[in-house]
Amino acid sequence: MNIILFGPPGAGKGTQAQFIVKKHNYFQLSTGNLLRDEVKLKTSLGSKIEQLISNGEFVSDEAVNTLLKQAITHLKFRDRIIFDGYPRNIEQAINLELILNEFKQTIGHTIFLNVSRDIIEKRIMGRMTCEKCNMTLNEYFNKEQIELHPCGPEHLKKRKDDNLEVVIARYDTYMTATKPILDFYSKNLNFTEIDGAQEIDQITTKIDDILKV
Ligand code: AP5
Ligand code: MG
Repeated sequence: MNIILFGPPGAGKGTQAQFIVKKHNYFQLSTGNLLRDEVKLKTSLGSKIEQLISNGEFVSDEAVNTLLKQAITHLKFRDRIIFDGYPRNIEQAINLELILNEFKQTIGHTIFLNVSRDIIEKRIMGRMTCEKCNMTLNEYFNKEQIELHPCGPEHLKKRKDDNLEVVIARYDTYMTATKPILDFYSKNLNFTEIDGAQEIDQITTKIDDILKV
């Protein structure tokens, strides 16, 4: 079964997804990472995507859905996907249902990391992402881990969209377009809300407990 990790920008979706991958044999499908990979290819689609991400706007459903379908239909990932940053609006939620039904897969758990805006700002402003392994650390909270990062601290970079103006735009978009789809998921028995303001380890323990069931 697959997992949806849901939450605002900076909630810790990527951080927790990386732990789930290591401990529970899942694959992280971060639409943000897939889109940033496309930007690195410097294609014309990549430059359009770069512009949208830089402004904190959504990339078109068409482009994101295409990337998503490629992953869902990949045999290696079958029923072991963590959806990180998808779905983000009602159309994407419907699309996910349709594709999963078509390929006879299910969502086993929807986990909502609930974090308020004031906490998010500090997390995102301090985030350092490894350009090699995509690990996310934080210059305010993980100074020592940054120095000891296995790929080398020089590979930890700031994301271009991690500035205050864009963070506010992303949060506002989350509140208007993304959060309302929780009405749909929260009615399901497999939905769990976690207080995302807790320490990283505390949240990981709660997710471990959910995945054991
Ligand atoms: P995306 O890359 O998905 O960004 P996001 O949703 O804004 O989420 P973030 O990656 O910023 O946050 P996160 O929850 O992963 O937090 P993290 O674990 O890194 O998308 C980027 C853009 O791509 C979008 O704006 C849009 O343009 C486009 N896009 C993506 N998907 C799309 C879609 N489906 N449709 C259309 N467009 C799409 O943690 C953040 C920081 O906090 C880190 O430094 C971490 O170390 C720290 N931290 C994490 N947890 C804790 C904790 N519990 N305590 C203290 N610090 C913590
Ligand atoms: Mg992320």
